[in-house]
Amino acid sequence: MVEVQFASRRTSTLLLITVFLLFNLCYDWTFLKSTPEGQRTVAVPLHAEEISAKCRSLQLTPGPPLNFYNRSVSDRYEVGTKPVLVRNAKIWTGGVQGLEVLDGDLLLAGGIIRAVGHVGKKLLEEYSEITVIEAHGAWVTPGLIDVHSHLGDLPSPVLEGAVDGNSFKGLAQPWLRSVDALNTHDDGYASAVAGGLTTALILPGSANAIGGQAFSIKLRPTKERSPTSMLLEPSFGYNSSDHSLRWRHIKHACGLYIIFTLFFHIIDTAYAILGENPSRLYSGTRMDTFWAFRQAYDTARSIKESQDEYCSNVFNGDWASVSGKSFPESLQWEALVDVLRGRVKVQTHCYEAVDIDDFIRLSNEFKFPVAAFHHAHEAWLVPDVLKRGYEHPPAIAMFAAFARYKREAYRHSEFAPRVLADNDIDVVMKSDHAAIVSRYLVHEAAQAHYWGLPENTALCSVITTPAKVLGLDHRIGYIKQGYDADIVIWDSHPLSLGATPSQVFIDGIPQISFPSILTKPTSLQKAPATPDFEQEIKDAVKHEGLPPLTPLRTRSDVVLFTNVSNLWLRDATNSVWNVFENLMEWGPGEVVVHDGRILCHGITSGCAAYSADATVVDLQRGSLQPGLVTAGSALGLQEIGMEETTTDGAIYNPLGSDVPSLALGLPRAVDGLMYGTRDALLAYRAGVTVGISALHGGFLSGSSTAFSTGSLHKLEQGAIVQKTAAVHVSLAHGDVPSVSTEIAVLRRLLLSAARGTGDESLQSVAQASGPLSNTATNSADIIPTVIQMKQEVEDQTGTELRITILGGSEAHILAPELAEAKIGVILYPPRPYPYMWDNRRVIPGRPVTNDTTIATLVKAGVTVGLGPQGTNATPMISAWAVRNLRFDAGWALLDNPDVLSQASVLAMASSNVEKLLGVHVDPYEADLVATSGGDLLSFEGKVVAVISPRRGRVDFFE
Ligand SMILES: *[C@@H]1O[C@H](CO)[C@@H](O)[C@H](O)[C@H]1NC(C)=O
Ligand SMILES: *[C@@H]1O[C@H](CO)[C@@H](O)[C@H](O)[C@H]1NC(C)=O
Ligand SMILES: *[C@@H]1O[C@H](CO)[C@@H](O)[C@H](O)[C@H]1NC(C)=O
Ligand SMILES: *[C@@H]1O[C@H](CO)[C@@H](O)[C@H](O)[C@H]1NC(C)=O
Repeated sequence: MVEVQFASRRTSTLLLITVFLLFNLCYDWTFLKSTPEGQRTVAVPLHAEEISAKCRSLQLTPGPPLNFYNRSVSDRYEVGTKPVLVRNAKIWTGGVQGLEVLDGDLLLAGGIIRAVGHVGKKLLEEYSEITVIEAHGAWVTPGLIDVHSHLGDLPSPVLEGAVDGNSFKGLAQPWLRSVDALNTHDDGYASAVAGGLTTALILPGSANAIGGQAFSIKLRPTKERSPTSMLLEPSFGYNSSDHSLRWRHIKHACGLYIIFTLFFHIIDTAYAILGENPSRLYSGTRMDTFWAFRQAYDTARSIKESQDEYCSNVFNGDWASVSGKSFPESLQWEALVDVLRGRVKVQTHCYEAVDIDDFIRLSNEFKFPVAAFHHAHEAWLVPDVLKRGYEHPPAIAMFAAFARYKREAYRHSEFAPRVLADNDIDVVMKSDHAAIVSRYLVHEAAQAHYWGLPENTALCSVITTPAKVLGLDHRIGYIKQGYDADIVIWDSHPLSLGATPSQVFIDGIPQISFPSILTKPTSLQKAPATPDFEQEIKDAVKHEGLPPLTPLRTRSDVVLFTNVSNLWLRDATNSVWNVFENLMEWGPGEVVVHDGRILCHGITSGCAAYSADATVVDLQRGSLQPGLVTAGSALGLQEIGMEETTTDGAIYNPLGSDVPSLALGLPRAVDGLMYGTRDALLAYRAGVTVGISALHGGFLSGSSTAFSTGSLHKLEQGAIVQKTAAVHVSLAHGDVPSVSTEIAVLRRLLLSAARGTGDESLQSVAQASGPLSNTATNSADIIPTVIQMKQEVEDQTGTELRITILGGSEAHILAPELAEAKIGVILYPPRPYPYMWDNRRVIPGRPVTNDTTIATLVKAGVTVGLGPQGTNATPMISAWAVRNLRFDAGWALLDNPDVLSQASVLAMASSNVEKLLGVHVDPYEADLVATSGGDLLSFEGKVVAVISPRRGRVDFFE
């Protein structure tokens, strides 16, 4: 039924096109001419030359104009841009497969790169007023390029008036253009530039099989302040002033429509207006999707065939055959016709093997190449299918670790980039901004490098390979004479943890007015020496993305760790200190563990008496450090966020009309715990041994629970660390009912709980034995309301309320007030981004500001914990990010060397989080993590074991 409805709709579109073509007959066929013989008359159209030119233009192939490489001024040059000479740089040029590095200088002038390496005196004399930048040997790369961004089409902070990512008016809409929705007021532009991005492809969303045309933009502000002026090489027909044909882009998307589950209400509204039935149109299966593609391409193919036939008559001078007919074309379908002419880069959002196989079949049926599969979480499992791609294998544009949010992303592997590169497939790391904040695109490449992608390929994955995928590698993606002057000067090797630009140039224009630059340690001036993951890579492939994640071995007897550089332990106050700090001059230490407890630690052979018959583990100058603790995500409450049957399910909203009253009692997350989820086990393998999770949804979501991420079921020894932790309330502007109503209810509930009535968990909050966590609370307007409410309740009850802010993107504005009120903050995400109105006032951090959110809070005396750098800080789709807590903590330390130490940052990612959420842990019962080759806070360390006194064991991962 659905298919019939759908097909008939398309058939009527076809009819419309035919009618449209018929209607256009004859209108400029007015000129009758006699042949010389005067015996027959042949109609030659009035615009014969124009028609011939049109036909000739169909044979053009995209590329730069002939004299492009001779330009001395860029078409994007802004008058008044001063020439810049960068001296003594370590220049990664992008040449020789990303292996070429030159030590030398760089001259930028006229918006282009004029000279690289050695800049001749004669050339310098051509310019006056040169700005000289002394790089002191810093790394310089071309600007980063993001092939998958929604900057401008879904601007930040998100407001309903500019949610322009998806059209819900049809399955195949090649006529839509992302540039028509490109908002110029997106806080994301400056953010992206601060991360070294200079160019992005802005794609329509993935709600449709064919979502529309995509456009590349440069991310800098322009004098004209218009979307048009941001475009980089507008495609043909858009601004054809130089008459060369430029690559176009189109967004396709395979699979099921996420709109059906996620945005149903939006379509519902849209179609209520249009009088269409959304469920009929969008109850899309994969079969519907591919029929939509085939039908659309069939339409395009028939238009193309009539054009070719028409033009072949024109070229043969057979005007009689074309007499009375105008050139067959359709504004709606012309973009797809251009795909068939090989003039459009097809950018396809495609996840699973089945989708990829379907699309490769489609591209071979209709004979067009695929520029890249985006997301493509299973591409690494089907390299042979990719190699069957029409004309060439598509590049694969992916995330490093963001996965498992939906079924299609379940078999993702952190080793996917490496496996694809091993198969000679082009690897691109992308942001899908704001899914990953594009400012951190280089971190995606750095993670891929950590997990095994070679250094040169990793750098290419965000610079030269995307330039090629966009058909723009004649002007961006390389540091070469004549290329656009888009460069980044880095404070450390771009693949090192937390690498940050010290300056970014776009079209030769410096983008950071007063850059705040840190001097990073020299150890970060080369690519990190990452661990060996060869065995894990083999296992991942063998198990098709689902390798077993449980420990390889578990021991409760004696284990001796040797060659240990640092032993960080939690002390009686739950601070962290380095036991080996003064030991190092004697050489690396050793640690003896029995039953998961430390028996002895000291310098080599000092513990000999305890270590007879021990299993010996050489940590290769690695470390032992506290197991990390995560809070805020839905870790342990779901396997796949967007698959309801793999989650605890939906909780009721106590203020909604669908439940009788609050008398039911608040739910406890402990009752919804799921063990052995892949996100939890991956977190465990990354040193996060305890999760504190709350249910999510609604205003009052009950009590959180602390659990062991390494346990396999709830009844195992030590599986539950603490049944109930904090009571969680979510407060954000736009809530229904309002924040003011929520506060009123909360105040009332706390006051009655103080009198011993109402929900038990709230009573424990009111009696100061458990904290209240203000989850998803970011706004500097809501935080003071919470502070006031705390004061009011305390005044009336005489008991101190313990409150923690979980979120806190704007908390820095109230740092002294929070310290005064003894309210701690679990910063989630630790590097805030202005996703929503409630977190628009973030501190950008370096290179834009000297200050950071963390430093401001810590300096004011606020206790800070770190949450995951998750997607949009949404619990449901942030569990994947928990495994990266170690890197986020290391990054926080690198960003704030004057304020934080290794010990304090380890506390922020462990004991502080427990303390702030009311989880009481005896420091001698807390887990330890053993890393080899380096520590948890670096790209060098690899987690090899977890030592758990609570569970009486040591788990080994190799
Ligand atoms: C580029 O410039 C060189 C030298 O000025 C000249 O010989 C060449 O013809 C030019 N090429 C193009 C394509 O304009
Ligand atoms: C088209 O491009 C040319 C050259 O880059 C520029 O001068 C002109 O202003 C552009 N026109 C429009 C409408 O953007
Ligand atoms: C300790 O680790 C370092 C670094 O891997 C290694 O070079 C050294 O041989 C190890 N020392 C011993 C005694 O195993
Ligand atoms: C950062 O601090 C330095 C030294 O105090 C100061 O000179 C500079 O102006 C500050 N930069 C910014 C962007 O605030």
